[in-house]
Amino acid sequence: MAENKANHSNSKRAVQTAAQAAGLPGSASGAAVLELDYVTKRIGGKTLVNGLSFQVGSGEIVGLLGPNGAGKTTTIRMIVGLISMSEGDIRIGGSSVRKQFESAIRHIGAIIENPEFYPYMSGMDNLKQFMRMEGGVSEARIREVSALVGLEDALHKKVKAYSLGMRQRLGIAQALLHKPKVLILDEPTNGLDPAGIREMRDYLKLIAEKEGIGILVSSHLLTEMELMCSRVVVIQEGKLLAVRTIKPDGSDESRQMSVSLEVTDAEQAAQHIAASSKAELQGNDADGGRLIVKLAREDIPAIVKRLTDAGIGIYRIEENKATLEDDFMKWTGGNRIA
Ligand SMILES: Nc1ncnc2c1ncn2[C@@H]1O[C@H](COP(=O)(O)OP(=O)(O)O)[C@@H](O)[C@H]1O
Ligand SMILES: [Mg+2]
Repeated sequence: MAENKANHSNSKRAVQTAAQAAGLPGSASGAAVLELDYVTKRIGGKTLVNGLSFQVGSGEIVGLLGPNGAGKTTTIRMIVGLISMSEGDIRIGGSSVRKQFESAIRHIGAIIENPEFYPYMSGMDNLKQFMRMEGGVSEARIREVSALVGLEDALHKKVKAYSLGMRQRLGIAQALLHKPKVLILDEPTNGLDPAGIREMRDYLKLIAEKEGIGILVSSHLLTEMELMCSRVVVIQEGKLLAVRTIKPDGSDESRQMSVSLEVTDAEQAAQHIAASSKAELQGNDADGGRLIVKLAREDIPAIVKRLTDAGIGIYRIEENKATLEDDFMKWTGGNRIA
């Protein structure tokens, strides 16, 4: 029976590898430092996480997005080894959580619940205290990680004087001390004000870049994930719903985009668009004076000139962005996150 199970998961792994080779969305761009392979968790006949697979590459921030109860915390608890998996495996820095638990866990830095600190001790002393327990961490490293999370000036203040955001960042500094390959944060922006959220976002980006580590961060807030992550793994009821790459705006001049054009004469404009090789007419409404046109960003000036030269006035050009939110509405039938 156990042997059957092993064979079963091996054949699944072969499929997964093929998907990775094809560059499918679930796979990481850089070297994968965290790999979930058909991870399932059942408790008392209930399936909390159901055959979940995705990867996180070094230097990238991946969002684990899902409504409350989707299974984010359960997934993270399995990754950090707080609870066991019912099926599947997780590899961290190449080591299997099932077979090489100690070395797998060594590559992880994580904050699961609110990190606990001694309030009457300074940030520095808290980190030193932690360092004594961990061993092998230098004071230079403490300064390095403190700078990474913007706490160098506050390092000698008592933790009780820290804001929630500062405490969170001290937690991140602590999690980074032993130079993990993966940083895991479960809803790190919960309870933070907008300024705190923004700071958290900026520091995480800096950490991913400077330390070259993979970051997995969970949230139920869609807009937050779009701003923070390079990829988002969407889960619902413990299952993978979609993986989306978030591309920075305007990064690619030749990227095809859909724009709405508001013009003085939509019918005439439509004829010009149809006659142009650079743009494709996707729709128009003559009444509203509006056209939907697909074209590359680099061709917008030429199209504008062509219309203007023909005596057509342009009131407005606007990109029609299919946001992750639009997609999410489609996937879940309007059951919106947050
Ligand atoms: N120890 C447990 N036993 C039974 N059910 C649990 C346990 N922990 C969580 N759950 C249930 O599993 C589901 C996923 O929970 P969780 O992973 O905490 O979701 P999220 O973090 O996405 O909000 C929820 O329905 C929750 O009630
Ligand atoms: Mg949770």
